Amino acid sequence: MPFHFPEPWRVKVVEPIRLPERNEREVSLAAAGFNLFDISSHEVFIDLLTDSGTSAMSDDQWAGLMLGDESYAGARNFYHFEETVKEVFGFPFLVPVHQGRVAENLLFSTLVQPGMIVPNNNHFDTTRANIEIHDGIALDLVVEEGKQPSLEHPFKGNIDLAKVRLLFESTPKEQIPLAMLTLTNNSGGGQPVSLANIRGYAELCREFGILFYIDACRFAENAFFIQQREEGQADRSIAEIVRETFELADGCTMSAKKDGLANMGGFLATRNSELIETIKQRLILIEGFPTYGGLAGRDLEAVARGLREVMDQEYLNFRVSQVAAFGNRISGLDIPIIRPVGGHAVYIDAKEFLSHIPQSEFPAQALVVALYRAGAIRGVEVGSVMFGRRDADTGEDIFPDLDLVRLAVPRRVYTNTHLRYVCDALEEIRDQKESIHGLRMTYQASVLRHFTARFEEVKSPVAVG
Ligand code: F0G
Repeated sequence: MPFHFPEPWRVKVVEPIRLPERNEREVSLAAAGFNLFDISSHEVFIDLLTDSGTSAMSDDQWAGLMLGDESYAGARNFYHFEETVKEVFGFPFLVPVHQGRVAENLLFSTLVQPGMIVPNNNHFDTTRANIEIHDGIALDLVVEEGKQPSLEHPFKGNIDLAKVRLLFESTPKEQIPLAMLTLTNNSGGGQPVSLANIRGYAELCREFGILFYIDACRFAENAFFIQQREEGQADRSIAEIVRETFELADGCTMSAKKDGLANMGGFLATRNSELIETIKQRLILIEGFPTYGGLAGRDLEAVARGLREVMDQEYLNFRVSQVAAFGNRISGLDIPIIRPVGGHAVYIDAKEFLSHIPQSEFPAQALVVALYRAGAIRGVEVGSVMFGRRDADTGEDIFPDLDLVRLAVPRRVYTNTHLRYVCDALEEIRDQKESIHGLRMTYQASVLRHFTARFEEVKSPVAVG
């Protein structure tokens, strides 16, 4: 599978990376209890842990850093940031925050009360946690196609509008403080949502008098998929599609660590002038004054510039095709992945690929370990370690349907040669996959256990099934 588009930039600054020797990798793995979150980044050669906050900034963004105005109130970079967000997304009111989950915290702590329901295609884990902490119910209503890993469909991130209507009809309006939609759907494989689906959802929200907010983290990648895949959209610019998308919503939460092309930053934007006043009070309490919201002036500048750069057609042609070519090459090795390839990452179906490892021995975590062993490559488990739990009463383990490994591609960081190297490591793993062992969890914390869990390898022959 060819990598078609060459990188639309040339390299001006380099950051050396080093491939640790095999024996060093073994020592690191053992010391980390086979949990890659506990390995320091200089022991990693290719880091595909996340696309969040890991982007390479452009020379224009770096130049912007030098123009940082670090005044406590009214820094000029805030006004540039504000003007950019208003122009790109069309919302009149906004506050900056230092990352996406703070926008979620501010919004949900203001709107959600116990027993209330927030629908979404799929809630990202911080979104879910910020709803559940207020005893709200985070309801995932992605279309059925979105739950079938190998099924090809252009918009597997769509929300099921029939289920949304049913929910709205059967629930008192006061119990649904807002409806969310995640672009692209990270928890569902980075799959896009069509403009028709966004419009349909917005219309339902309007019909039932419910607020509609977008989780905008990967808004430009979503707009690119709309342009490429949706009828009647091919001739429109990314900026036009973005503008129409957000015109349909009452507000959005944004982590600029993704499609802001920045290492830190985010915002909450809305059309509601009363809500923003309440939010500003809370912001002052937890982040800072409303013209900086937890960010340095220079960070605001980097985000303002990044939000425009990310909508560049050449950039997106390369970005999305790089991830697609990476995924298609992995598919070509007969390694099952979520199809079609999403916008920011390739998700390997490890339960299927390493079918000799039972789910109780964490096949996806075993694959994460194998990738580190083979090439000092760091991916992340999105499966039984992250979403499984041990029932407090019965001691029984409860597992999710899928056991995935996410290989997230940082923006503008790795060349296609780096990604080919990852494919070569995967090929080596495929050829010896029967020799990969499962893992036994030896330590787990009571919340968000995947960050700190520890494991040992199960070296005895395992029962299949
Ligand atoms: N919403 C989505 C869809 C996300 O993917 C993330 C972060 C957030 C909200 C929270 O943003 O990290 O700035 O607070 N996703 C990262 C990831 C962590 O690796 O996918 P944040």
